[in-house]
Amino acid sequence: MIDVQNVSKVYEMPGESLRVLDAVNLQVATGETAAVVGPSGSGKTTLLNLLGVLDRPSEGRVLIDGRDVASFGEEQAAAFRNQSLGFVFQHHHLLPQCTVLENVVLPRLAGGWAEAEAETTARAEELLAEIGLQDRLAHFPYQLSGGERLRTALARALVNEPRLVLADEPTGSLDQETTGVVADLLVQLNAQMGVTLVVVTHNATLARRMQTHYELRGGKLEKQ
Ligand SMILES: Nc1ncnc2c1ncn2[C@@H]1O[C@H](COP(=O)(O)OP(=O)(O)O)[C@@H](O)[C@H]1O
Ligand SMILES: [Mg+2]
Repeated sequence: MIDVQNVSKVYEMPGESLRVLDAVNLQVATGETAAVVGPSGSGKTTLLNLLGVLDRPSEGRVLIDGRDVASFGEEQAAAFRNQSLGFVFQHHHLLPQCTVLENVVLPRLAGGWAEAEAETTARAEELLAEIGLQDRLAHFPYQLSGGERLRTALARALVNEPRLVLADEPTGSLDQETTGVVADLLVQLNAQMGVTLVVVTHNATLARRMQTHYELRGGKLEKQ
């Protein structure tokens, strides 16, 4: 599903250029779960942003389902992100003025589904119930715990039924116990829905739960 071929990313700044990824290769099969670990600043977010078509490589190719995503125009990239990808950001980026339910409904409304609004809402409610948030639908993000905010972000990532979910340090701010719960949830998601999962993390507990393991260090990605 994912085929990263010799990808480099160089950030050009006045007077210096920073080679964050150096000829990186990564293959992730459909239905697989992969963890990428590495110290802070090693380029984990940079790599995930390339997979999520939020950024483009300086060299090399990123193929997703055989399509060269760097060749997408802005509109095509936005449609691809909305319909084929679920992205869980490091700081979740929930809309603070929207409820849990609204945060999950919005991407589905933008997803161009042929369904009535009541159906969209029902689908979001069902997903939130599966994720254990049925009693938090009308809460605003500030009224939630860190674990609940993450669950909301996960439901939002899943609402358009993507085949690929990318998660950037999803448990970054959670305690050990909640991290375990989230890891369970991700593993379950993969097993039940067949979602391909790439998780970038420095949390060893979460990384261990994924099937394949990579480490990013000094711009190089190595399979563990
Ligand atoms: N837009 C940018 N311009 C310049 N440097 C950047 C940019 N984004 C990230 N970097 C640098 O690239 C390196 C890798 O960043 P990042 O991918 O966020 O690492 P990680 O997620 O592993 O902590 C860091 O040194 C960071 O400062
Ligand atoms: Mg990061």
